[in-house]
Parts: sequence; structure tokens; C-alpha cells
Amino acid sequence: MKRGEFFRKKFTEEQLINKNLIIQRMNGFLYIPLCINAEIAESLKSSKSWLHDVDIVNHDFNLYPERFNNYKQLTNLPPELIKELPTSYDVIGSICLIKIPETLNQYSKIIGRALLNANTNLRTVVRDNGVKGDLRIREFDIIAGEKKTETLHKEYGIKLMLDISNVYFSPRLSKEHYRISKLVKPKEIVLDMFAGIGPFSIMISKYSKAREIYSIDINKKAIEYLIKNIDLNKVVNIFPLEGDAQILINKIPKVDRIIMNLPTEAHKFLKIAISKLKDTGIIHYHKMIKISELDEQKKWIKSKISDFGFEITDIQEINLGSFSPKINHFCFDLELKNKVQSISQQFIKNVKLIDK
Ligand SMILES: C[S@@+](CC[C@H](N)C(=O)[O-])C[C@H]1O[C@@H](n2cnc3c(N)ncnc32)[C@H](O)[C@@H]1O
Repeated sequence: MKRGEFFRKKFTEEQLINKNLIIQRMNGFLYIPLCINAEIAESLKSSKSWLHDVDIVNHDFNLYPERFNNYKQLTNLPPELIKELPTSYDVIGSICLIKIPETLNQYSKIIGRALLNANTNLRTVVRDNGVKGDLRIREFDIIAGEKKTETLHKEYGIKLMLDISNVYFSPRLSKEHYRISKLVKPKEIVLDMFAGIGPFSIMISKYSKAREIYSIDINKKAIEYLIKNIDLNKVVNIFPLEGDAQILINKIPKVDRIIMNLPTEAHKFLKIAISKLKDTGIIHYHKMIKISELDEQKKWIKSKISDFGFEITDIQEINLGSFSPKINHFCFDLELKNKVQSISQQFIKNVKLIDK
């Protein structure tokens, strides 16, 4: 029993427990539901020695009835207003971010207090007014709890320190951070062109055998947190660079893979990004578009890439979820090849044929 409690505490500290499911005791074992899949949990064993004594198994858990939304009942608002309350919110570390409709503005504090009471891991609740400007910093008002905006967020076994008042971060991209890290092949050189506090860079460093990761951001505070996060996660192959990616890109070697997570502006940086790619390479190009514009967007990407001297050998789009009712956040995984190189290889083949 004591051992079970030890592991429950450890999983809680690492924020790895799925809180919508009920922990179960059965035949002398404690079954703890995790918010990561079995493959990821197994891969964490290499960095967390306490996990060596844990068996990762598939198990059917029961749901906590209405747990996720029980803050609604705690507001004590009349039923017609409860219907208007948001059904989802984001959590970054101990801070809850909730988008409150205009009609409920006057109940913000009540909503904030209800969220704190419903979730003991939360310390602060803010009304989220969205990210703005080139630095993509969030506008918000603190509506309940501590007036603290710095927090420690954990995802897929990595730690990220950040202050929501001066850097960008979205917990909604955690799966995407992990997805990309698993695509990176041994010895790759990676450029994280708009790195922020480093979720892609740190995840890649932790879960791949990349040789070097160059991480650029124009926001001084983001780079300060990136440096803290490099230390927190004890990773060594990330090179943080503070400044404009257009300029700093000239200071790094050619790379195998580029992550372009600046969905509002990435198109302006495509040409300079491609100039840093080896003869073959991958770009993860992020863009906000309507689903109906998908084909048009792919056509645009193909023609631009061709103008810049490369051809696309494969293109995959990943829908990362809705940004607003009509707009979705997409990542286009682009596998690229230098056209000049492919023409010269063709030429060599032809020469060989003539030789025969
Ligand atoms: C959408 S955020 C993504 C941050 C990070 N990749 C993540 O997933 O959390 C975009 C980042 O690009 C940075 N940025 C904007 N313009 C830039 C530029 N010209 N050069 C480098 N970074 C820039 C912003 O400061 C911001 O941190």
C-alpha cells in the first residue's frame, strides 16, 4: 500500500495522471490512469529511474462522473447561465486560462473561484483574451487566486518554466511537440526558428538523438526561460539564439529539419528557411487556415518551394485543432529536395547510360 502511495505521489508531481479517470485497487495492485500512452510511459523509464519498478499495462478505468465540468455547479449560477459556461479551459502549470463569453463578464470572479475549488492543483485563474502581436503574448486578467503569472508546466515528462505575462506558450500543442520529437533521426541538425521557451527544442533533445538544435526567438524573455528550461531538463545540445530569425539564421550551419511555428507570419520566412536546408530536408510549416482552403494552401506551398529551388517529395498536413470557429491550426510536414541536386543526379545517370 505504501509503495502504491509513493508512486501515486510521483505521478502526481510529474502531472502524468489522467484526472478524469478513477484510480483503482485490484488484487493487491494499484492501477493509476496516465495522461500519456504506454509507449511514451515506457520511453520515460530511461530518464526516470523510479519508473523502473512500475509495470506499464493497458487497463480499463472508470470515469469520474462530471468531474471535468463540476466547476459549473460550484458557481451556483442559475441554470440558464450555467448552460453558457465554457466546457473547456487550458491549464499551464498551476494557472487555469478560461475564455469567458461577454455575457458572463460580471460573473468572472465567481467562475474563477469555482475553478479553484474544483481543482486543487490550481493556484491562479485568468480570463484569457487571446494571444496578440509579433511576440504572440497572451492578454489576460487575473480573476481568482494568487497574483502570480510564473509557473512550472510539465508535459510528456519534460519541465517548462514560463511567465504567461511575457512569453508565448500553449498546452494544446503538447502532443505536437512530442510528435515532432519522435520524427527526428539520429545525428540530425535541427533549427527551431521560432522557439519560444523551447517546448519543441527540449522535447527533441530529450526524446531524439539529434546532434544539435539551434533555437531562435526574438523575445528576450522567451530566450531567458529557454536557458532555464535547458538547465531544468539537463539537456546539452540546444543552442539558444536571441534575435530576429531572418538575421540569425545566417550564423548557423545547414540543417536537416526546420520547425516554423509562427502560424501568422511563417510564409514570410519560407525563402530564408529553405536557404538553410541541406540538399534534402524537412520543414514543419505551421499555418492557420480554413479547412476549405486546404488544397489552395498546398498549391501555394508547392509553387513557392519550387520558386525557391526545391521540390516537394512528400507533403502531409496535420490538423492541430481549431483556433477560432472557422480557422484551424495546421502543421504541413514538407519533405524537400534541392532541384539543382536532383537535376545533376539525373545528368550523372544519363552520362553513365551513354558510357555503356
Ligand atoms: C507561436 S510562438 C511559438 C513558440 C514555441 N515554438 C512554442 O511552441 O511554444 C512564436 C514565437 O515566435 C517568436 N518570433 C516572432 N517573430 C520572430 C522573429 N522575427 N524571429 C524570431 N522569433 C520570432 C515569438 O517571440 C514567439 O515566441
